[in-house]
Amino acid sequence: MTTKIFAHRGASKVAPENTMAAFKLAYDMHAEGIETDVQLTKDNIPVLIHDENVRRTTNGTGFVQDYTLEELKQLDAGSWFSEKYEGETIPTLDEFLTWIQDKPLRLNLELKNNVIDYKDLEKIVYDRLVAFDLIPRTVISSFSSESIKRFKEISSDLATAWLTSNKIRFLIPFTKSLGANRLHAKYTLLNKRLVKKCHQNDLELAIYTVNRPNQMNRCFQLGCDTIFTDVPDIALLERNK
Ligand code: G3P
Ligand code: CA
Repeated sequence: MTTKIFAHRGASKVAPENTMAAFKLAYDMHAEGIETDVQLTKDNIPVLIHDENVRRTTNGTGFVQDYTLEELKQLDAGSWFSEKYEGETIPTLDEFLTWIQDKPLRLNLELKNNVIDYKDLEKIVYDRLVAFDLIPRTVISSFSSESIKRFKEISSDLATAWLTSNKIRFLIPFTKSLGANRLHAKYTLLNKRLVKKCHQNDLELAIYTVNRPNQMNRCFQLGCDTIFTDVPDIALLERNK
């Protein structure tokens, strides 16, 4: 089994996270998949940005959910990272799906509905994936267990993952009880037993966010199915040594 390497928010070490520039660089680096974060605008358009608030990664202020798409598109999502990326905008989910459709990349859409419970986010995203015929290549994840359950009610044919950074009791039975196919866990939760338990219970295990070579190699040696990294080029070099 070979651990798959997913670019976390794109190649986010060298380009502004969750922009088309970061996704394109990840593809050029030969990442095998891309992880990105989905929030909803005021007019219910899914867009790719990590935080609920635009302040950290754009030249604007305020919440994504208070902007229409037209207003959001006026914001610069590149300059905060480097002048070189001035003019990058927050991508819509449709822009991303259009770009990825003809590329041999897997997708992980993380629904950012654990802070703001965006109404109908699951159905909106599901419909876009169907429209682009991308269900087979996609895994949906969320820190919200309720969201994972809602997704399973909408469709059983789409892979889902519960995300956690917490060392809880009964982690595996809880993940299974949601109907999830995968567990996406923070690196600090990783140990040999977790990998074994996941696989015994037919759960794929993905680990975030793995940026140091020694951590990458531990994930490879333990048999994690996927890692999320800001530096996919380094991860590929380490894995293919
Ligand atoms: O999906 C893995 C990871 O992205 C979850 O944490 O905060 O980077 O979205 P965060
Ligand atoms: Ca994420």
